Amino acid sequence: MSDDRLIVALDVHTMDDVKALVDTLGETVSYYKVGMELFYSVGPDVVRWLKEQGKHVFLDLKLHDIPNTVAGGLASLMGLGADIVNVHASGGYTMMKTAADHLHAAAAEQGIPCPKIIGVTVLTSMNEDDWQKLGETEPMADLVTRLAKLAKAAGLDGVVASPREAASIREACGKDFLIVTPGVRPAGASIDDQSRIAMPAQALQNGATHLVIGRPIRAAKDPKAAALAILKEMERVK
Ligand code: C5P
Repeated sequence: MSDDRLIVALDVHTMDDVKALVDTLGETVSYYKVGMELFYSVGPDVVRWLKEQGKHVFLDLKLHDIPNTVAGGLASLMGLGADIVNVHASGGYTMMKTAADHLHAAAAEQGIPCPKIIGVTVLTSMNEDDWQKLGETEPMADLVTRLAKLAKAAGLDGVVASPREAASIREACGKDFLIVTPGVRPAGASIDDQSRIAMPAQALQNGATHLVIGRPIRAAKDPKAAALAILKEMERVK
């Protein structure tokens, strides 16, 4: 009973921990997110291993640099077989467009499927206090929607955003745009360092296409039972 809309964040440091969690979750989970924590410690092999297991992979390295460097970085990641890669939307229109164009061209040249490329809007851990300390005056939600529109105009396939902002992004960017939302917490779960959170069904109702969930599954006494409970809640929103 898996659901490609659920992406479990593999925020661990070793291949042994990856294998143990993937084994525990078995057929329940079809999609995993590899972030910087894991990628920096075990390298690209983890993506290859997950693909060999028949899993989908969101490679969440949040690239943020000048256009040429981001495009080069993505070219290096291209052959791994990730299904989704990402860049920071605040890197700007030119950076996002260069990244998307290079990715499409490289995929065509190599004759391999092109990963989806999405833009990180504003981190879901960002709260109002952090926001003001950055000197920002625009409401956070307005900036998120503006960055999502910019990402779409630059040719990206979607964005990462808080589930609370999913509805306005859906309205602004149309029905085929991916909205990947971390900051999802089932009822009663610890919020950890997230701020702009919502429950799984709520996030989907708001228009999210994928939910990224880490600690509520990974740190649960029974991760498989935790995943199943989340999947059951997600079932209600098709
Ligand atoms: O454990 P938790 O469910 O909070 O994990 C959320 C995951 O999503 C983490 O791997 C984090 O890096 C990632 N993420 C996020 N907010 C973003 C983008 C990614 O929390 N805006």
